[in-house]
Amino acid sequence: MKIGVPKETKERENRVALTPEMVKTLTGAGFEVRIEQGAGSRSSLPDDGYINAGAKIVTNHDEIFSGSDVVLAVNAPSSNDLSKMRSGSVLICYMWASTHPELVSAMQGAGISGFSMDAIPRISRAQKMDALSSQSNLAGYKAVLMGANALGKIFPLMMTAAGTIKPSKVVIMGAGVAGLQAIATAKRLGAVVEVSDIRPETKEQVQSLGGRFIEVQGDDSIKTEGGYVKEVSADFLKKQQELIAKHVSQADLVITTALIPGKKAPVLITEEMVSQMKPGSVIVDMAVEQGGNCPLSELNKTVVKHGVNIIGESNLPSLLPFNASELYARNIVTFLQHLATSEGFKWELDEEITKGSLIVHNGKAVHPSVINN
Ligand code: NAI
Repeated sequence: MKIGVPKETKERENRVALTPEMVKTLTGAGFEVRIEQGAGSRSSLPDDGYINAGAKIVTNHDEIFSGSDVVLAVNAPSSNDLSKMRSGSVLICYMWASTHPELVSAMQGAGISGFSMDAIPRISRAQKMDALSSQSNLAGYKAVLMGANALGKIFPLMMTAAGTIKPSKVVIMGAGVAGLQAIATAKRLGAVVEVSDIRPETKEQVQSLGGRFIEVQGDDSIKTEGGYVKEVSADFLKKQQELIAKHVSQADLVITTALIPGKKAPVLITEEMVSQMKPGSVIVDMAVEQGGNCPLSELNKTVVKHGVNIIGESNLPSLLPFNASELYARNIVTFLQHLATSEGFKWELDEEITKGSLIVHNGKAVHPSVINN
C-alpha cells in the first residue's frame, strides 16, 4: 500500500500528518510512504529526516493524491485535490463531516472512502487514536501561555523586598480535555484557579488538579451522553451566567473551553460580564470557531473590548506544531494499523471504531451523521 502525505494547505496550519518516527513504523510494517516536499518544514521536520526514515519525497502536490492508495492528512484537502484521488483509494483526516456536506459530496464524486479522525469513538481501546484529546491537551496548555503572555501581571504569589505580589486568578470554563490541561498548566505557573463545568463528574477531576470548583446547580434541561453535554436550556445558561459573573469580574484571565458537539458553543461570558472585568484582564476563547463562549471574541484575532484583551485564536495546536504533529502522527498511524495492513484495508464494517469513523465508503455516504442530514 502506498501512503501519501500532502503539505497542508489550510491557512494557519503548521502541522503535518506523519513524522519521520512514524514513517519508520510504517515502512517497517511494509507500507510505502511518500511525503510532499516541505510537508514537515513548519513543524521543524525537514525532508532529510523523512528520507532517512525510508520515505520518498514527492515534489508534485497532485501526485500525492493521484498516486496513493491512502492519503493521510490533518485537514480535509480541497475538492480539487480530492478529485485527483483514485477511485477506491482512502482518505484519513479531520472531516467534521456533519457540518461539511461539500466535503462529503467531493468524496462521493471521487469514489473514495473517507475515515474521519474526529469521529473515532471515545472508547478506551481507541484512546491511542484519539486526536481530539491529543490536540486539545496541547491547546489547553498553549491557551494558558497565551493568556499569561497577554497579561501585564505574573501568575504566582511573589514576596520581594519591594513588597508582596498577589497571585493572579484564572477562571476556566469547561473541564474537558483542554480545560483540565489548562488547570494543570495555570496551577504550575502559580495562579489561583477556579473552574466551572456542568457535568457533575468534573468536580473531582478539577479538585484533584488543585482547582477550586465553581458549583453551578444543574437542572433538567442538561442532557449528557457519552461524557458530552448534548443540550442545555437558555434559562439554565442565564442562571449559570449570573452565578459565574462574580468570579469572572474578579479574574485576571478567563479561559473558555465549553463546547456542545454539533451545536453552536454556549454563551457563558456576555458583553455585560466583560464590561465588569478588570482593565487589562484577558479572555482566551477556545470555542471561537464554534461561535465562541463570549460573543465579543473574533475568529483568529485579538481584540480589546471594554479594556479586556480577548484572544480568538482558532488553531492552538498548530502553534505547537512539533508536539502536535508528533502526537497526531501517532494517533493516525495507530488508527491506520487498526484498519489496514500493508496488503490493504480490512473493511470490518461492523467493528465499532471502523463503523464510528467511516464517513464515505467507495463513494457512498455511510455514516449516520451524514445520511440523516
Ligand atoms: P468538549 O471539548 O466537547 O467540551 C469541553 C467541556 O465543556 C466539557 O467538559 C463540557 O462538559 C463543558 N461544557 C459544555 N457546556 C458547558 C457549560 N454551559 N458550562 C461549562 N462547561 C460546559 O469535551 P472534550 O474535552 O472533548 O471531552 C468530552 C468528554 O469526553 C469528557 O467526558 C471526557 O472525559 C471524554 N473523553 C473520553 C475519552 C476516552 O474515553 N477515550 C477520551 C477523551 C475524552
